[in-house]
Amino acid sequence: MNMKTLIAAALAAFALPAMALEVTLPAETAAYRPSDLPGYRLVQQNCMTCHSAQYVETQPQTSPRAYWDATVKKMKKPFGAPLRDEDMPAIVDYLVKTYGAERGSATPVAATPAAAAPAAAAPAANGAARTADALLGANQCSACHAVDKKVVGPAFHDVAAKYAGNADATGKLMQSIRSGGSGKWGQVPMPAFPQLDDEDLKTLATWVLSR
Ligand code: HEC
Ligand code: HEC
Repeated sequence: MNMKTLIAAALAAFALPAMALEVTLPAETAAYRPSDLPGYRLVQQNCMTCHSAQYVETQPQTSPRAYWDATVKKMKKPFGAPLRDEDMPAIVDYLVKTYGAERGSATPVAATPAAAAPAAAAPAANGAARTADALLGANQCSACHAVDKKVVGPAFHDVAAKYAGNADATGKLMQSIRSGGSGKWGQVPMPAFPQLDDEDLKTLATWVLSR
């Protein structure tokens, strides 16, 4: 799915009632579905650094093997996933049999408590303000960003420098974080975060600008 479809799907899922702003992704979409297929171990090792399994979960269930093959290749180039060529067929096999058109050709094993516990995705209790640290962890910002060096996305220090002196810097960054997109720092897109409410976005934007 491309960026526009992804955002549209996310908005459709999140934008309805005002209350829905509090919705965070259910835990089971953050981790990959357990399986006996060898590709399960490989996706856990290779696919969690930049984003959770949510993108995989949201692909059409009719997606054929060739689609998954193209997606995994795209993660390697241009997105930069450090995948070994010899591991890619097993990853594609796991994906198409677990999420795509060949579902049912392998019985996924029952979820283990470990697999069901994603990286600190638990939100604070409704209404409680979340700290920047908690938000960065829960949303995997740190998988793509560091303060002082470029990772997949720009160094937060460089973002703060670029927007220093810009009167509406906080508002601009809140918008950037909510909508994601590409072209401001390079060709690699940042995913959208429609599940973050204004308070969370402001906490994050203010934190980034103070780096
Ligand atoms: C180096 C970072 C990185 C790694 C590692 C990575 N991805 Fe991605 N992935 C991205 C980016 C960037 C996007 C695009 C986000 C967007 O379009 O909003 C993306 C999007 C996706 C999508 C959505 C469909 C699409 O084409 O945009 C799927 C599915 C996906 N990744 C699967 C995987 C799988 C499976 C792996 C492991 C084999 C993986 N990713 C590893 C960066 C990565
Ligand atoms: C999958 C990798 C990825 C994740 C996860 C990610 N980012 Fe980004 N981020 C990027 C990329 C790539 C860019 C550069 C986009 C561009 O060139 O326009 C970026 C840009 C930014 C910018 C600069 C925007 C601007 O207007 O100049 C900020 C601020 C930012 N990210 C904050 C965050 C925060 C906060 C999170 C977590 C809620 C986050 N990012 C999660 C990859 C990511």
